[in-house]
Parts: sequence; structure tokens; C-alpha cells
Amino acid sequence: MEGTIHILSLSLLLILSLAQAGELTNPKCAKFHQDNNKDSTTLQVLHVNSPCSPLKQQQKYTSWVDNVLQMQSKDTNRLQFLASLVAGRSFVPIGSGRQILQTPSYIVKAKIGTPPQTLMVALDNSNDFSWFPCSGCVGCSSTVFASTKSTTFNNVSCERAVCSLVCNYLVLTSVPKRDCDAGTCTFNLTYGNSNIGGGLSVDTFALSADPVPQFNFGCIRKATGSSAPPQGLLALGRGSLSFMSQADSLYKSTFSYCLPSYKSPNFSGTLRLGPKGQPLRIKTTPLLRNPRRSSFYYVNLVGVKVGKAIVKIPPSALAFNPNTGAGTIIDSGTVFTRLVEAAYTAVRNEFRRRMGRNTTVTSLGGFDTCYTVPITIPTITLMFAGMNVTLPQDNFLIRSSSSTTTCLAMAASPADPVNSVLNVIASWQQQNHRILFDVPNSRVGVAREACS
Ligand SMILES: *[C@@H]1O[C@H](CO)[C@@H](O)[C@H](O)[C@H]1NC(C)=O
Ligand SMILES: *[C@@H]1O[C@H](CO)[C@@H](O)[C@H](O)[C@H]1NC(C)=O
Ligand SMILES: *[C@@H]1O[C@H](CO)[C@@H](O)[C@H](O)[C@H]1NC(C)=O
Ligand SMILES: *[C@@H]1O[C@H](CO)[C@@H](O)[C@H](O)[C@H]1NC(C)=O
Ligand SMILES: *[C@@H]1O[C@H](CO)[C@@H](O)[C@H](O)[C@H]1NC(C)=O
Repeated sequence: MEGTIHILSLSLLLILSLAQAGELTNPKCAKFHQDNNKDSTTLQVLHVNSPCSPLKQQQKYTSWVDNVLQMQSKDTNRLQFLASLVAGRSFVPIGSGRQILQTPSYIVKAKIGTPPQTLMVALDNSNDFSWFPCSGCVGCSSTVFASTKSTTFNNVSCERAVCSLVCNYLVLTSVPKRDCDAGTCTFNLTYGNSNIGGGLSVDTFALSADPVPQFNFGCIRKATGSSAPPQGLLALGRGSLSFMSQADSLYKSTFSYCLPSYKSPNFSGTLRLGPKGQPLRIKTTPLLRNPRRSSFYYVNLVGVKVGKAIVKIPPSALAFNPNTGAGTIIDSGTVFTRLVEAAYTAVRNEFRRRMGRNTTVTSLGGFDTCYTVPITIPTITLMFAGMNVTLPQDNFLIRSSSSTTTCLAMAASPADPVNSVLNVIASWQQQNHRILFDVPNSRVGVAREACS
């Protein structure tokens, strides 16, 4: 279990040693801190703990094992959160004393207000409502949007239709409460273990050189707990309140990202907005809309191949079902792919079978298929409707550089708080791939790209 395990140790070393200095000396950081190119709709995406990230935290643990376990326990909470959205119940965190996070891992630079102020906002493609910490916020981090200094900032009144939209949206994620005594639309919401309160507001918001005027977002004035991304959340979901919907005239509900590799010390990828510049030759699968949870980007995962064998998975484990919300989503905020129990067990058993009966299987935290001896690794192919994606080994294994431990980097969906019906294709499986979300043409594209 000990030993230097390269997947995170390199980044960990950098995070520990470069800390502040790295941000200034790394040429990629300089690029990141420059203003966005005049007509560029391609933004740099950083892992929140990248050397370039102003939000990076000292890693809590010095061993790879502990960091992986930490990442997976955060995942469990996000999975519970996503599953509860499907179930239409609010998320009640378990063990409230412990630090529970389901903060998305990737950040981009955004400009808000007039004159523009910079915030490092977290990408979340499974949420629709964006929010940022505002002036006077109690319990927020030190960097907030100084709404009082923006000449284009306004509170939204209760009478506006968008106030009802926000309330209807929050019904699914939080205790639905609208407080209109003061004439302005205010809300409380839960996000992981955080309680967040604020007011619905509008201001100019920009990711590229093209600002979105009158962008609706939540101005956070009170926050408790530790789950909220410190400088706010950029909602890239499919619903009508999301950034992509509000910026539809600019970007036509089309975007792609390439998430940087967890192995890369630079951790830099890209977010590309709009149909322009998207790959023309890319494998695609139909994008599905599930009214049970209209924010999510659902796709039809029809099977999984381990080596040449198509794993026998009960069809119900993968089936898309608009009545229950069951199916498969592509999520940027979960780290490791989760399949519903029956599907995961079948995939794992086939993977183990390929290793031969004499190879001892061990476990590591939430990973139950690990090996401490050299193994011959089969390929893994995710079979979507009309699109097979054969994953490079880095996308389905966690390996130690001393080759003491190799694990299958997937797990079963948690059984809490509801029996999960959701398969989640997560960021470990997406890294170094361009993922295209093309709503007008109802398709999701996947192409390998070495973006870090
Ligand atoms: C980051 O990337 C650059 C160029 O891709 C490379 O030269 C450098 O060694 C990498 N690592 C750091 C810590 O900057
Ligand atoms: C918006 O609402 C907040 C909280 O009620 C208040 O402090 C602020 O002055 C309002 N801003 C404007 C521009 O009305
Ligand atoms: C939000 O919660 C605070 C107390 O934490 C309460 O005073 C306020 O009225 C609530 N607002 C809404 C819209 O429920
Ligand atoms: C498995 O181990 C047993 C006992 O050590 C040995 O007799 C057998 O040949 C091994 N089988 C394979 C396929 O390596
Ligand atoms: C995906 O792989 C399966 C099994 O090998 C094959 O039957 C199918 O035609 C492939 N689909 C595409 C779109 O290539």
C-alpha cells in the first residue's frame, strides 16, 4: 500500500513544493492569468488543485492511498446528491460532523459586473442554477463579487417569471421556499453539506470576450458548510436557467471540454463554447432528455466490453427510463465512474475472470478490484448507441509507479439515499478526451485529445 504511486504523487509534490511560486513561474499559469483572447471562445480549464489554481488547497494527506480514498468519499456524496435529484428528494448529508464535499473539481475564469471582476468558478454540467458569493456574504471565502461596485447589478423582483423558474428548479434540490417580503426574489438552497442563501440577481457575465447581459444568477449572502465552491458555481446543465441556455444566442447550446489528466502536473484543459471550432470528425451518440431530471446530459449506454467479450449486464441496469430517471449521464463533477450494482458487478467479474483464477484480488478503499502483482490488462470499451469508446488504460486504471497496486478505477453506485438507478460516466474516464455536448443536434461526441 505504501510506495510512491505516480498517479497523484507527482501532482501532490508539485502542489506541496511549488505552492505559490509555481503559479507565477509556470508558463501555463501565465497563460491562464492573461485576459481571455479577444475573440477566443476557448477557455483554459484547471483542476481545482492545479499549481495554477488560486483555489488550490494543501493536500490533506501525504500518501496516494489516502488521497484516492478522499477523492472517492467525495464522489459518494456527489453520487448521493445526483441520485437524490433523480428521486426528487433533497439531499440530507450523512454524518454532518465530518467534512463532506461534492465540489466539482474543475474551474474556469469568469468576468462579472461592470467594470468586470474576475472569479474562478467551478464547472458543473449537471446543475442549472449558477451562483457566486457576493459583497457582505457571511460565511463565504475572501474573494467575492463586489456587487455594490457594479453599475449593471440588480436584484430581481418576485414578480419576474424567472423567480418562479428558480423556485421550481430548487424544489428538486432544496426545501422549496420563496421569500418575497422585501419584494426581491430570495432563496435558500442546499449543496452537499452547505446551506446557501441569497437573492436572485442579474448582471453582465462573460466567459469569453462576448458578455451575456442580464445574466440571472444567485448572489450568495450567507453560506454554511464546506461544499460550496469558494468562488461560485457555473451551471452548464441543459435546463432553461443554465448558463448555456441563457447564452443560447451566443453559443447555441453547444460546448465541449477536454478535462486535464490527473497525472499531469499542469492540469490544464479547455472549455470551448459554441459550434465554431468544435471537432468535425468526432464519434457521436444521441443525447437524451429525461424529464425526470432535465438538467442532466443523458446518453444511452448499451453495453460494456472487457477485451473482446461483451459483458452480460441485465438490460434493466442500463436502460433509460424517463419515468424513474434511470439511465446514464455524463458528469464533470464526479471523479470515478459509477455503474448501478448489477452492471458494475458484471463488468468487474469479467475483468477479474481475465486475470485468471490464481491472481489474488485485493481492495483499496472503495475500489474492490486491485492487484499487487503484474497483470495483463484487457481493454475496456464503453458501448453507447452508435458509438464505441475504447478507453486508454489511464482512463480505467489507477496504478502505482512502483507497480505495487493497480486498481480498476470504477465502482458501484451507492445504495444510499435511494437505490441508485443512475450510471455516471465521470471525469477519470473523460480525461484527455474531448466531450462535445451538442444540444441542437441532440448528440454527444467523444474524441481522444491529449489536452494535458
Ligand atoms: C507544464 O507544461 C509545460 C509545457 O507543456 C512543460 O514544459 C512543463 O514542464 C510542465 N510542468 C510544469 C510544472 O510546468
Ligand atoms: C439587493 O439586495 C440586497 C439584499 O437585500 C441589498 O443589500 C442590496 O442593496 C440590493 N441591491 C440593489 C442594487 O438593489
Ligand atoms: C432562508 O433562511 C433564513 C434563515 O437561515 C431565513 O431567515 C430566510 O427567511 C430563508 N429564506 C427563504 C427564502 O426561505
Ligand atoms: C494455479 O496455482 C496452482 C497451485 O499453485 C497451480 O498448480 C496451477 O498450475 C496454477 N494455474 C495457473 C493457470 O497458473
Ligand atoms: C460496437 O461494438 C460492437 C461489438 O464489438 C459492434 O457489434 C458494434 O457494431 C460496434 N458499434 C459501432 C458503432 O461501431
